[in-house]
Amino acid sequence: MTANNSNKKRIGILTGGGDAPGLNGIIESTTRVLLQNNYEIIGIKDGFEGVFNEDSIPLSLERIRGYHAEAGSILGASNKSPIKGREKLFIEKFSKLNLHGLIAVGGDGTFSGLSHLQPRIKMIGLPKTIDNDLSGTEITFGYDTACAVVSESVDALRATAETHRRIIVVETMGRTAGWIALGGGLSSYSDVILLPERPFSKLALLDFVKKKKQEGQRGLMVVISEGAAAEGEEAQVAFKVLGSPQAERYGGVSQNLSRWLEAETGWESRNVVLGHLQRSRHPTTTDRFLTLAMGVEAARLVQEDQWNHAVVYRAGRVQRAPLDDLMGPARLVNPQHHWVKLAESLGTFI
Ligand code: F6P
Repeated sequence: MTANNSNKKRIGILTGGGDAPGLNGIIESTTRVLLQNNYEIIGIKDGFEGVFNEDSIPLSLERIRGYHAEAGSILGASNKSPIKGREKLFIEKFSKLNLHGLIAVGGDGTFSGLSHLQPRIKMIGLPKTIDNDLSGTEITFGYDTACAVVSESVDALRATAETHRRIIVVETMGRTAGWIALGGGLSSYSDVILLPERPFSKLALLDFVKKKKQEGQRGLMVVISEGAAAEGEEAQVAFKVLGSPQAERYGGVSQNLSRWLEAETGWESRNVVLGHLQRSRHPTTTDRFLTLAMGVEAARLVQEDQWNHAVVYRAGRVQRAPLDDLMGPARLVNPQHHWVKLAESLGTFI
C-alpha cells in the first residue's frame, strides 16, 4: 500500500485531451466520495503535462464543491503532451507522486498513451468526448451538452433565416463521427443533416433545396458535421496540430457548402461555425447525472482496490468494463442507425 505521513492512500486524478462538459462533475463526485472514505486526492494539472512538470494539487472539499455545474476542467487539460517516446521519464515522474492509483478521464489519446504503462500504473479509465465516438461505451459525457448547443443555435438561427429568406448552414464538431450533427440536427428539426458516415449526393441535395424554394419555404436550416463530404470528395482538414494524437483539425466545409448552395440555387445563404461553444457550456442535467454516477462508480472501484477497469455507460446504466474496451477504433454512426431513419421519416435530407 502506498501511504503518506497520515497513512491515507493517495489517489491521483487527471483530465486529458480536449475538454468536455462534465469533467468537473467527475472530479467533484469522485473526490467527494473518496474524501469521505479517508483517501487523499491529488489533482494532476493539465493532463500528462502535470506529470512531466510535477504540477499537482491536493483536492479538498472546499476546492471542488459546486464545480460540477461549470464547463472546462478545474485541473486543466491538454491534448498536446504525448507520452510516446517519453515513457521512462513519465514513469520516473509519476513515481514521485507516490500514488496508490490513478483515475484518468480522457479520450482515445489519453488511454492509448497510458495503456503501454500497465501494469506499472494502476489505473481506472473514464471515457470523455463531446464527439460520442469512443468504443466500449454507448454515450460519452459532454455529448448531450454539445447537442444542446447545436439544437439551441439552430432554433435561434431559424428566426433570422426565415426573416431574410436565407439558407443557414451550421457546422458542428465531431471529427470523423457525425453524432453531434445527428443529435443536434434532429432535435432542432433541421431540414438537412450531413454526416461524415453518409457522403451526400450533390445532385440530390440540390433537388431537395430547390424544391423547398419552389414550395415557398422562407428559410432553410442545414446542419453539417465538420468531417462530412459529398460523394467522391474528401473531408476538409483546416490545419494540423503537432504533437496531438489526432493531428487533423477539420473546418471550412460549411462556408464552401453555403457558397455553393447560393450559387446553384439563387437562395441567399450564410454559414455559422459553432466551434468550441459546443464544449464550453455548463453541462446539461443529463451530463451532470451521468458524470455524478460515473464518478461515484470510479470511487467505488478505488475503495474495492479494483484497478485497470473502465467506467462506461451501457444498456441504460453506468457500469464497469475492461479498460481495453476503450481502446478500440472510433465508434461511428451506423449509416442505417435508427436516428437516421427517424430523420428520413420526418422528411429531412440526410
Ligand atoms: O475531439 C473533440 C473535438 O472537440 C473535435 O470535435 C474537434 O474537431 C476537436 O476536438 C477540436 O480540437 P481543438 O480543441 O484542438 O481545437
